[in-house]
Amino acid sequence: MTEQTFKRRQGRAPGNPGQPTSPDPDSAWQAAWAAVERQAAACRALRIDGLFDSEPERLDRFCVEAAGLWLDLSRNRLPASGLDALLALVDAAGVPQWRDAMFAGHAINGTEGRPALHVALRSPDGRHRDTVGPAIDAAMQPRPDPLTAPLKVGDEDIRAAVRNTLARMRAFAEAVRDGAWRGATGRPITDIVNVGIGGSHLGPELACGALTGLGHPRLRTHFLSNVDPDAWQHLARDLDPATTLAIVASKSWRTQETAMNALAVREWLLAGGVPEEGLHRHFVGVTANVAGARAFGLTDDTIFPFGDWVGGRYSLWSAIGLPVMLQIGPQAFDALLAGAHAMDRHFADAPPARNAPILLALVSLWNGLVHPGCTEVIAPYSDALARLPAWVQQLQMESNGKRVDRHGNPVAYDTAPACWGEPGTDAQHSFFQALHQGTRIHPIDFVVPVPDAGLGQAATVRSDGGAPFADSGALSRATTLLANAIAQAEALMRGREPAPGDPLGAHRACPGNRPSNTILLDALTPASLGALLALYEHKTVTLGWLWRIDSFDQWGVELGKTLAARIEPLLANDGAPDAGPKGEADVAALSPPSLALLDRIRAIRARRRQG
Ligand code: F6P
Repeated sequence: MTEQTFKRRQGRAPGNPGQPTSPDPDSAWQAAWAAVERQAAACRALRIDGLFDSEPERLDRFCVEAAGLWLDLSRNRLPASGLDALLALVDAAGVPQWRDAMFAGHAINGTEGRPALHVALRSPDGRHRDTVGPAIDAAMQPRPDPLTAPLKVGDEDIRAAVRNTLARMRAFAEAVRDGAWRGATGRPITDIVNVGIGGSHLGPELACGALTGLGHPRLRTHFLSNVDPDAWQHLARDLDPATTLAIVASKSWRTQETAMNALAVREWLLAGGVPEEGLHRHFVGVTANVAGARAFGLTDDTIFPFGDWVGGRYSLWSAIGLPVMLQIGPQAFDALLAGAHAMDRHFADAPPARNAPILLALVSLWNGLVHPGCTEVIAPYSDALARLPAWVQQLQMESNGKRVDRHGNPVAYDTAPACWGEPGTDAQHSFFQALHQGTRIHPIDFVVPVPDAGLGQAATVRSDGGAPFADSGALSRATTLLANAIAQAEALMRGREPAPGDPLGAHRACPGNRPSNTILLDALTPASLGALLALYEHKTVTLGWLWRIDSFDQWGVELGKTLAARIEPLLANDGAPDAGPKGEADVAALSPPSLALLDRIRAIRARRRQG
């Protein structure tokens, strides 16, 4: 490293408080990285099952309990010596310092010059202790440390801002839930429509789906994200304007899809008999851009703000979680925050070798090196967690899908693997074939809540108030689901030898030795869900620090938005260039295939007009 680059990096100190103090931090990281790469290359053919013989302590070392979750990371081609090398990388990358800097509110998002303080949204403030279980309760006792100490961003007292918004959210949620908040025609709200996309959609949708069982009997929650008119038209069919509440959720208040969908809902409300002056009973906004929400016509009492120090994909815990609080109630929402805080506490306190998010990140990094080009599969063995893969996908791929390090230099290694998944057992009947016998290896996380042994004993209550129905086989089906999760991890690791003389032996054989993690939840509750999501958040940012990239920006999504804005007027004119010079310039800037598509679209529309 030249003297000049060293000075440049030193000059970044306020934004990069985690800068190691060694005279040449790069060489320490590079040596640690090279050691990890070397070891990973040597482990490509390692048998996982053999590691249980050669490492008698393996389960102790690779299983960890955190905030009520149990992680088993033992089924990877990662020997104890590889883990030692990875832990040395944690040190060399300054992960503990970056973590502490995050909790302390330093501007760790270097390219945008701001802190990443989603953890401050779930700090305890004396709410609902002794209600969510000993592991969480213990973590919720306020302590005089960075997780609860007074915190300012600029002049803003973060703790006070979080408390105020939460208090307003609670009051509002209670009013809607008990029927005090009514639509313009005096009827209680029955349907909530969250209008938002990306981080302003995926977290609330996941949490509402996961906690459906705790839903308010009168309230249904819906999500409108896609700008495709089908999405709104399909949803609106089942809604009554008089009893619908729209939450417009947009951190920036500049997202085109959300703005257009919000206008569609507004038009529908007005056409459905809600008078203009009564719209405020049907529309609230959640945003970090209060001025933008006001310009849309919202008044301050219907705007729930959060700080720009909360990244969109980390924002479930902010006012973005309002639909969740409306559905499950303030107390259960507090338990969700408490579960996440318990994981924060663990992340902050546990040594790296016993630290669940750090270990999960290390295994992910290792798998990327042992199985170059692999993807990551998330398979919740819980239908309620169906949207977990989509949420993790944005979290990991938007955070870490970067090709330059935080100083802008190209990285010489792969970052965020593609991440995808579906719930089991459905997934077993679609893509698991490729996991067992395909030529590529895709490490998988089995996310498994333990079903309640009392399942099916009581009749199931219907949300519409209809007669409860019996489901005496519920426990048996839940047990089948659980057995399948364990069996799949086992089958992937052990594989199957062909039977001697079997003519189809080559087809039936499963090579095994395929990596997986298991994350066990005692039960799917608000607290365990909070802990689970915080686990993945901390895994993601730890990976960012190990790869030395900025996990909190997302510059890559801008280009497509800019181009769409330029193409749209050309489509409005049936694909023909505007007569004016601007339209011609826009056309000239497009590539031949895009121009060909515009021509084709124009031809299709012309045909339709004629026929
Ligand atoms: O796709 C880019 C992105 O900015 C995401 O990071 C974000 O979650 C989403 O768009 C929605 O943004 P907003 O909440 O500002 O509408």
